[in-house]
Amino acid sequence: MAQDKTVFSGGVAVITGAGAGIGAGLARRAGALGMTVVVTDISEERAKAVAEEIRAQGGKAEPVVVDVSKPEELDRLAALVHERFGDVRLLINNAGIETIGHVWEIPTARWEATLNINIHGVVHGVRAFVPYMLKAGKEAWIANLASIGAFGMMPDQTAYIMSKHAVQAFSECLYLEMELVKAPIHVSSVVPGMVKTSIFDASAGAGEPKNASHHRTVMRELMANYGMELADAAKVVMEQIAAGKFWVSTQPDMTAQSLEARIAFFREQSAPHLSEQAKQLIGQ
Ligand SMILES: NC(=O)c1ccc[n+]([C@@H]2O[C@H](COP(=O)([O-])OP(=O)(O)OC[C@H]3O[C@@H](n4cnc5c(N)ncnc54)[C@H](O)[C@@H]3O)[C@@H](O)[C@H]2O)c1
Repeated sequence: MAQDKTVFSGGVAVITGAGAGIGAGLARRAGALGMTVVVTDISEERAKAVAEEIRAQGGKAEPVVVDVSKPEELDRLAALVHERFGDVRLLINNAGIETIGHVWEIPTARWEATLNINIHGVVHGVRAFVPYMLKAGKEAWIANLASIGAFGMMPDQTAYIMSKHAVQAFSECLYLEMELVKAPIHVSSVVPGMVKTSIFDASAGAGEPKNASHHRTVMRELMANYGMELADAAKVVMEQIAAGKFWVSTQPDMTAQSLEARIAFFREQSAPHLSEQAKQLIGQ
């Protein structure tokens, strides 16, 4: 039996950006396994819809509106969850956005949003929840969403890629800090390859330079044609988190390929260069 069926058969799960995509998939899965799921999202409508779906399937879920780019909202969430539901068994810092465009053409507000959501959202999720977890002294799981992009380079996805490198490094150091203080808290870095979600939808690109739309369209089509089905991805991710794995992959072959390319880049100390796939994407 997969470990998630026992490890996550009860207790409280808090998932950010759970109103759509991978977060919603993980929320549905956690609900089906028997957890009480706190479905948080910046969109009230989306959070409510996912919580309602979980309840309709006989699960326990509560929607909470949270903008992860604001540290004080994560503090408020942590206090609210502990007051209403008690200790947290599973925290998934999932919310993230893709930003496309040349570094110098992305408006300041979009830069700030990308770094605040993708990096600071994860940092402050951990900062807000871990003191409660340590005080409770119970076994708990924290999973942060990086990406196979955490090991690569991609022009015009610079803001996103650098944020994922940061999240990967953050999770590695956090893992070691948990060992240092002998906390019963598992840390996982989730590195999805490509999962069918709304991350590349045109509506998700508000505030990007106009010329980002081609790259966004190509990525959306790639995702629609080759992406993993959401429910399948959520299932394997929950199983690996429950097993206490640090590296959590949706598509292990894609993860290995990205890591190999990174290792070769470091070993050869070559200048940054584009993969054939990246060349096609940016039309070279
Ligand atoms: N889909 C993939 O193939 C893929 C690959 C690698 C990594 N990831 C990562 O997985 C995570 C989820 O991505 P997805 O593809 O499901 O995206 P998605 O766009 O489908 O869903 C993201 C959700 O996050 C919410 N959100 C956006 N800004 C927020 C904020 N400030 N506060 C709270 N919620 C906010 C959105 O409302 C949405 O419901 C991201 O961190 C992403 O980088 C996804």
